[in-house]
Amino acid sequence: METLGIDIGGTKIAGGICDEKGNIRCLQRVPTPEDAADINAVVAGIYQRCKNDGDIRSIGISAAGNVASDRRTVSFAANLPAWNQYPLADAIENLIGDGVKVVVENDANAAGWGEYRFGAGRGSRDMIMITVGTGVGGAVIVNGQLARGGFGMAGEIGHMVMVPDGEACGCGLLGCAEQYASGSALERFAWSAARRQPCQSEHLLEACEYDRSKLIGPMVRDAARQGDPTANEAFDRIGEWLGRLMANLASVLDPDTFVIGGGVAEVGGMLLDPARAAFSRYLEASMYRQHASILEAKAGGMAGVIGAADLARID
Ligand code: BGC
Ligand code: NA
Ligand code: ZN
Repeated sequence: METLGIDIGGTKIAGGICDEKGNIRCLQRVPTPEDAADINAVVAGIYQRCKNDGDIRSIGISAAGNVASDRRTVSFAANLPAWNQYPLADAIENLIGDGVKVVVENDANAAGWGEYRFGAGRGSRDMIMITVGTGVGGAVIVNGQLARGGFGMAGEIGHMVMVPDGEACGCGLLGCAEQYASGSALERFAWSAARRQPCQSEHLLEACEYDRSKLIGPMVRDAARQGDPTANEAFDRIGEWLGRLMANLASVLDPDTFVIGGGVAEVGGMLLDPARAAFSRYLEASMYRQHASILEAKAGGMAGVIGAADLARID
């Protein structure tokens, strides 16, 4: 059976028809509008453009927020205020009609499932995916099953409190992992280091024109590649936090594999090397146990699309 997978991200909405092997057809990409109703219209538009290309009965939506166990409602979205207690599946089904069924999945759960079935996590049985982007998302797969928890919200690892009374998080708590191991944290660390050591931050300061509001993650990446020491340190810092987070998770779930994805992880070793080193350092009984593999995501930006489509198929 073919299903349509649609990933609603902070900057773009991507979608296409997916078959059982994880191949995508009719891939569409549209910039994400701000308004919830406009987002729904984009989703309906993608369906309209793809519907003659296959026999679509259901749509899997990957959404950046807490999804209730009905798999239809976004309960809360730390980085998307328009989606508080939002009946996303109802809204889209009403707009599309045709008897098409919509299933909503948390974005990291969808991406993690996509990696587990078709990407870096193939062959694993107990896998944790961590997505490093604007936020930090997670998916927990235990014995081949996606953990949803008692109320649909398992795997929200970005909101584990790592620092008591730490940085304020979009969710309302203080000191969440998301404030230390995300793309937003990378920008914050890079900017504060640049202010302290401008001579070690020349490429970055030039790229953002000495303006914090113009500083974006890819500038930190480029500055690190061009040799700004502070930009490299910023990657080391978020990598260190990521390693700590994984070590904590290993104490609870002991996965055989971690898959690290999300936009920031595309730098590869610049993030994964310090993360792996910190993981070993913080892991309990480190000398006396097997260490999980820490792998870079493979399905790239498409893991959410493929994973949401697959989860809609499995039901
Ligand atoms: C949200 C998660 C989401 C993650 C990645 C977090 O802030 O709470 O639901 O999976 O960001 O987008
Ligand atoms: Na999740
Ligand atoms: Zn939080």
